[in-house]
Amino acid sequence: MENDEKNIENLELDESAIQLLRALEKENKNVRDFLIKSYNGIPVAPEIEEEVYNYCVNHSMIFTAALTNPGTSVLTEFLYEGIPSPSPLDNYFLQSKAGRAVKARLLAIEKELPKIIDTYRSKGDVLIGNLGSGPGRDVINVFSTHYQNVSNIKAINIDKDINALKRGKIMATKQKVDHLVKFVQESFLNYNSPQKFDILLLIGILCPLDTETCINILKTIKKNLKEDGCLIASNAAPKMQKDDPFTYHIMEWGPNWKMVFKNEEELRQIYEKAGYIWKGYFLDSYGFHTIGMGIPHSYS
Ligand SMILES: C[S@@+](CC[C@H](N)C(=O)[O-])C[C@H]1O[C@@H](n2cnc3c(N)ncnc32)[C@H](O)[C@@H]1O
Repeated sequence: MENDEKNIENLELDESAIQLLRALEKENKNVRDFLIKSYNGIPVAPEIEEEVYNYCVNHSMIFTAALTNPGTSVLTEFLYEGIPSPSPLDNYFLQSKAGRAVKARLLAIEKELPKIIDTYRSKGDVLIGNLGSGPGRDVINVFSTHYQNVSNIKAINIDKDINALKRGKIMATKQKVDHLVKFVQESFLNYNSPQKFDILLLIGILCPLDTETCINILKTIKKNLKEDGCLIASNAAPKMQKDDPFTYHIMEWGPNWKMVFKNEEELRQIYEKAGYIWKGYFLDSYGFHTIGMGIPHSYS
């Protein structure tokens, strides 16, 4: 027992990970031992790995959502809203730095987006396209806090997941901004907007993609952006893996949740190679997500 505690201390984990390992010590020691060993790169018998995998599926909604679809907004929505009476594993994901940073990304967007909207509003009507919006919580929250009683601002939430859009409609209605938000079920790669957007949001989409794919996506969506429109796109930063390697290890091992971390310089290059002028970036409060801003300089 004493040795076990020492082993945990030697891993230099943060408090939330230590709490998880202590809870697992009581609940299922195989799971705890597996997590420690696999984190240290020590091989584990396949039967034990299978047992741990099944445990995680049965005891974590977050793990299972990511396993079913690593890009689902069900996962991000859990991190935004929390889970009532979470299991130790879900509690860990919610309390981990990486988990909190996803919510911090939402808060950073909610803080910065109104400033960007207001620069466009001073010139006239504003149309926002939220690509891969999930329910579109970011836009809905910003509209309900700042623009509920204005009529010259609209958004279209575009997602291929009909259930995410249904949630978004309920959210927009509850927050009394349903008159300002439309929902379209389509791939944003095929979407041809009848009206070009002043602002495009691309949040939580590029993170698992290689640079070339990101460049191609940014080129493809440019057709829907006004010549002086602003693309706001996020990517997970290397700091996420550096500062919270334990969460990343669990998510990579089980749900195969793999990120292609990019720093601001790499994101800037993606914008520039796709034909945008880089206008800078902001970070979430953990520095785990870079959120770039750029305007098109060519329609090639
Ligand atoms: C991780 S979630 C992020 C949701 C939201 N942007 C946020 O920040 O909370 C990614 C979303 O992108 C959607 N998505 C991914 N590729 C898409 C595509 N090509 N067209 C439309 N939606 C897409 C998924 O269905 C999912 O809802």
